Amino acid sequence: MIVLGLETSCDDTSAGIYDGRDLLANVVSTQLVHRQFGGVVPELASRAHIQLVLPVIQESLREAGLSVSDIEGLAVTYGPGLAGSLLVGLSVAKGLALALNIPLTGINHLEGHIWSNRLAHPDLEPPFVVLIASGGHTQIVFVRQWGQYTVMGRTRDDASGEAFDKVGKLLELGYPGGPAIEKLARSGDACAIAFPRAFLEEGSFDFSFSGLKTAVLNWVRNADAETVQSRLPDIAASFQEAVVDVLVEKTIAAARYSGVSRLVMAGGVAVNGRLRNRMAERGAEEGMDVLWPTPQLCTDNGGMIAAAGHASFARGDRSDLMLSPVPSLNLS
Ligand code: KG4
Ligand code: ZN
Repeated sequence: MIVLGLETSCDDTSAGIYDGRDLLANVVSTQLVHRQFGGVVPELASRAHIQLVLPVIQESLREAGLSVSDIEGLAVTYGPGLAGSLLVGLSVAKGLALALNIPLTGINHLEGHIWSNRLAHPDLEPPFVVLIASGGHTQIVFVRQWGQYTVMGRTRDDASGEAFDKVGKLLELGYPGGPAIEKLARSGDACAIAFPRAFLEEGSFDFSFSGLKTAVLNWVRNADAETVQSRLPDIAASFQEAVVDVLVEKTIAAARYSGVSRLVMAGGVAVNGRLRNRMAERGAEEGMDVLWPTPQLCTDNGGMIAAAGHASFARGDRSDLMLSPVPSLNLS
């Protein structure tokens, strides 16, 4: 079955095509309009999705060498995400499904992130634990079987990527902050500043990053402008290390608790080289396999929605044309 997956939950407009074996196309248009505001502006995101969604679908068909009549199923993200942005993808998906007389399935965006690992590692089978770390989400999920998910922990305030973005904005590094902070951190000392790590209650797999963000803000406020400029690499490296420490230790603890020997990562923060290295090191110490997808599959993309959609159709799931956006949709 050839499935077209549409992803418009945040600021990436994307279409991917998956046939159950190969990812035939994965076209992502990242909206640049938000950069000047230092974060995603929901109303502008919806408008940009409207402008980009049809060209992105056409480009995915061209990349796959297919015509629209070759598509046999439509998968679309229906949550979690921005209501107006989700609505654009849903409206287009419903219109296409109706016009082509093909089935439609609504996909949870977080399930898509989990499937990005299957696209990157076709032999990947549950059980495993996955860390989903992005601008909108930070969760640890136990995957018992495909389609059977248990959220073990989630952030109680900011997402890890959001913390990178807010600290990036504070340090005037532009948006998104993650890549710029990683780059600066390479020439800094990760032990230079003792920023706090919120491990929360004993045994908790939840996260909290707002205290860390405030600690960086206070450090910057208490230093003069010259010191801040000269210590930017140390601030970036020390902040990044604090985020990575908590993400790594909680994910390893969750995998140990679940009795699995495999853990995977997804979401934009999983592109971070320091996180990858530390997770791989700690995983090796614990005798666990650690996997992650390519950077393009880590960040939001339609390919992961097409892959999750393919599995959803195989399970016999179908959505009707009443499918609506669910901005705060949960995974389990
Ligand atoms: O998955 P994604 O594209 O979109 C969301 O669903 O949010 O993730 C974007 C997030 C942003 O917060 C960005 O700062 C972060 O991922 N990010 C990174 C890196 N690359 C992207 N964070 C840390 N290090 C990176 N190299
Ligand atoms: Zn995402």
